[in-house]
Amino acid sequence: MDTTEQTNGHIVVGITGASGAVYALRLIRWLADNGYRVDVVASETGRRVFEYETGTRLSADALTDKPEHLFLHDNSNLFSPLSSGSYQRDNRSRVVIVPCSMGTLGRMATASGSKLIERVADVALKEHGRLVIVPRETPLNALHLNNMLALMHTGAVILPAMPGFYQKPQTLSDIVNFMVSKILDALDVPNGLYERWNGEQG
Ligand SMILES: Cc1cc2nc3c(=O)[nH]c(=O)nc-3n(C[C@H](O)[C@H](O)[C@H](O)COP(=O)(O)O)c2cc1C
Repeated sequence: MDTTEQTNGHIVVGITGASGAVYALRLIRWLADNGYRVDVVASETGRRVFEYETGTRLSADALTDKPEHLFLHDNSNLFSPLSSGSYQRDNRSRVVIVPCSMGTLGRMATASGSKLIERVADVALKEHGRLVIVPRETPLNALHLNNMLALMHTGAVILPAMPGFYQKPQTLSDIVNFMVSKILDALDVPNGLYERWNGEQG
């Protein structure tokens, strides 16, 4: 069912095999709950790490109470509508890869990927859409850093999974909300997921 016309907008979420699946889970739930259409593509390792780390199955029913807003795509299917620049649902495509493994990062940086996630990222860059990449690895080597720089120079937003602590988070949920809020900001999605810094708050 095409629900685009009834939604606030359309976001593609790519999930790869880096640690930090909880960010993807919180983001997808927030977007679906807030009336966005969410297209999800996971790599094979992305799906396995997601299910291992979150204990949640990567299926529309398990991910959200609004499964009608969620569309799961097969990462091997290059015949997906998401593969083409002509598939434009908003004025500008919005794609986030969260969490992003160093493997997917490298393939995106060299436009050499053969899976749907890398193709969607490539399309977003060539069409001057918004591509937000949330890499997770530590420590980083020079290849990782060079790949991030290449993608940034090509128009991507590099948004490392590096939560801040100046908001004095009390729970893991606070830390996750901080990161998800940063991702939503980068996607131009208005949100109030965490209290914004407003000078020294005493
Ligand atoms: C539990 C687990 C955690 C991992 N965490 C990371 C990580 O944080 N960053 C990373 O680059 N790779 C990580 N990996 C390795 C990637 O999953 C691996 O490089 C994989 O080939 C990435 O494939 P993909 O890019 O197609 O998802 C992790 C693997 C496992 C099993």
